[in-house]
Formats: sequence, structure tokens, C-alpha cells
Amino acid sequence: MSSARIFSLFIIFIFFLALPAQAKDMILKEPPQSLSKYYPPESKEPKWIQQMHKMSTHFGGVFVNLKEKDFENVDKHADKLVEEYKKTSEMVPEWEEYFDIKAAEAFAAAAKTHDMAKAGKASGGLGKTCGKCHAEQEVAVWTRFHWPSFRKIKVTDPISEKEMGFDDYMSQVSSSFKGVTVNFGEGQYDRSAKALKTFKSQFMELKSTCSKCHTTDDVKRFYVGEDADTAFAGLAKELNAEKPNPGKFWKNIGLLGKTGCKHCHLTHRTYSFIRETWEQK
Ligand code: HEC
Ligand code: HEC
Ligand code: HEC
Repeated sequence: MSSARIFSLFIIFIFFLALPAQAKDMILKEPPQSLSKYYPPESKEPKWIQQMHKMSTHFGGVFVNLKEKDFENVDKHADKLVEEYKKTSEMVPEWEEYFDIKAAEAFAAAAKTHDMAKAGKASGGLGKTCGKCHAEQEVAVWTRFHWPSFRKIKVTDPISEKEMGFDDYMSQVSSSFKGVTVNFGEGQYDRSAKALKTFKSQFMELKSTCSKCHTTDDVKRFYVGEDADTAFAGLAKELNAEKPNPGKFWKNIGLLGKTGCKHCHLTHRTYSFIRETWEQK
């Protein structure tokens, strides 16, 4: 079997494990401190994830080999799964209750009968223990260990030349945006045109922040790319016209608000909200 095919089997298998959460409300608690030692910077390697891959490989390995009738390897994977599952259960004391060693042993015993139906049935009990923890903890772990913090990013305002924190800078961008729209609404086109210049340079300065987290320039096609350029050009054109066309003006404002602010917030701000809540407690 090609490795690609085996991999796709694992993926199917993982989806199979991703049982829906039982509770109707999702609670995102900050992961326990003791998990930190299995993630950078405390650990060089992301040891928790590596442990997950080991369990997943042995769990999947049982079924791949059952299908191939390679029973020697079925037994090996079954034993290794129990071993790694036990090891994982001891890594984070706060999470011990998620593990059910008996379910792992029952699965290994069923796998060793070399009967696919029995193994499949017993896998449910074990798979549920994986699925419950994933449903309750995975997003929290992504937020805590995979999302860099915007809080640490400083931006230099091109207008005042002052350096400030990212959230303060956002407030600046937001108020210069208002300067454009409020003045336009009042028919004060000169003031709106002046505010647009400030707003444009502050907004485009956000480009300087992308490389704090991204390694390719390619991402700058989004939010601060061509759509924003087109919208800014359209706005300037209306404001410089003898008689600005409100329809065209507001259309471009809408475009900026959506592809500039909203799309970035949907991707990047969600995690900031969660972290902020954790930091406040
Ligand atoms: C006590 C909680 C817990 C249990 C039990 C658990 N997991 Fe996980 N698992 C996690 C967390 C947290 C993540 C997210 C890790 C990350 O993205 O940093 C994860 C991620 C994974 C991943 C994805 C790894 C990746 O590269 O993103 C796989 C595969 C996985 N688990 C398999 C399993 C299997 C199979 C079992 C059961 C035999 C299991 N897990 C049991 C907490 C758990
Ligand atoms: C504080 C860190 C941080 C900053 C600053 C940041 N991003 Fe991201 N961004 C991320 C993370 C983390 C992801 C999730 C996927 C990943 O790691 O690439 C992401 C995802 C994205 C995605 C989705 C596609 C992809 O590559 O995953 C786009 C597009 C994107 N960012 C664009 C930008 C742009 C444009 C800027 C600058 C205006 C920016 N980002 C600034 C952290 C950041
Ligand atoms: C790089 C992507 C990005 C773009 C583009 C962006 N924002 Fe933000 N914005 C964020 C993030 C991330 C936060 C949360 C910052 C934090 O938690 O430190 C935020 C926070 C904010 C806040 C709250 C500030 C505070 O004090 O907490 C406002 C208001 C805001 N943005 C308005 C806007 C407006 C208006 C635009 C468009 C003109 C815009 N943003 C464009 C990423 C972006």
C-alpha cells in the first residue's frame, strides 16, 4: 500500500474519532500549565503532538494490518498503542480523567483476536476518550500554543511617528476611518479627503506587521493588497470629483470594511479575544 493511501486511511480514521461534543456549550478554558513543558519554548520538540501521532499511528496501524491480514504487526501495534496511551495519560495530571486504560486494554485484546468486527466494536470505547478530549481541549491548545500574540507587536504610526501597541494602533486606524465616513456623511468633502490620506497611510502601514508572524510576502495579497488599493483609489476619485457620487463612495467603504477589516478580524482577532479573556482572569 502506498504511503499516500495509508495516510488517507489515517485521515479517515481521525475523522471517525472526531465525535461530536456532548455538551451544547463550548467552554474554552486555558490549558493547564503542566502542558507547557511539552511545547516550545519550554520543550524543543512539540512533544504532546508527537505523542498524539504515535497513538494515532498505532491505532490506525491495527486496522491497516488487520485488513492486510498481517497479524504479527496487528499485535505489535496493539501493544504499542496501550503503552503509548498509558504514557500519555501520565503527562498532564489535570487531564488524567480523560483516559480510560481499561478501554485501551480491551481494544488491544479485541484486536489480538484478529477479528475485524470485534476490533471495530472495541475501538469505539477507546476512540470516545480521544474524541472527548479533542472536543473540549483542542481549540484552547491551538489558541495557547499555536497562535502568536498580537499583544507583543508594536506599530509605528506613520502620521505621529509614535510607536504603540497593536490594539492602540487599531483604535487609531478605526478613528481615522471614521473621520472619512463621518465627514462624508456631513457633506464635508474636503475634511473627508484629508482624513482619507491619514487613514490610507495608517491602514497600509499594517503591511509592516505581517512579517512578524508570516514568512512569505504572499499573504499580503489579502486585507492590505489589491482590493484595498482599488477601494482607496475609488474613494480618492470620488472625493476629488466636482460632485462626489455617494453610491460609489459607500460601495468602496463597504469593500474596505469587509475585505480589509472584517476578513482580517475573522482570521486573526478570534484568537486574540480568547487570549484576552484568559489574561483578564
Ligand atoms: C487528554 C486529552 C487528549 C486525549 C485523551 C487525546 N488527545 Fe489527541 N490531541 C489533544 C490535543 C490538545 C491536540 C491538539 C494538539 C495541538 O494541535 O497542539 C490533539 C491532537 C491530536 C491529533 C492531531 C495532531 C496534529 O498534528 O495536529 C491526533 C492525530 C490525535 N490527537 C490523536 C489522538 C488519538 C488517536 C487519541 C486516543 C487514542 C488521542 N488523540 C487522545 C488532546 C488529546
Ligand atoms: C501575530 C501574528 C500574525 C500577524 C501579525 C499576522 N498574521 Fe496572518 N495569520 C497568523 C496565523 C497564526 C495564521 C494561521 C495560519 C498560519 O499560521 O499561517 C494566519 C493566517 C493568515 C491568512 C490565512 C492563510 C494562511 O496563510 O494561513 C492570511 C491570508 C493572513 N494570515 C494574512 C495576514 C496579513 C495580510 C497580515 C498583515 C496585514 C497578517 N496576516 C498578520 C498570524 C499573524
Ligand atoms: C492584520 C489584520 C487586521 C486588519 C487589516 C484590521 N484589524 Fe483591527 N484588529 C486586528 C486584531 C488582531 C485585533 C485585536 C488586537 C489585540 O487583541 O491586541 C484588532 C482589534 C481592533 C479593534 C479593537 C481595538 C482595541 O482597542 O481593542 C478595532 C476597533 C479594530 N481592530 C478596527 C479595525 C478597523 C476599522 C480596520 C479596517 C479599517 C481593521 N481593524 C483592520 C487585526 C486587524
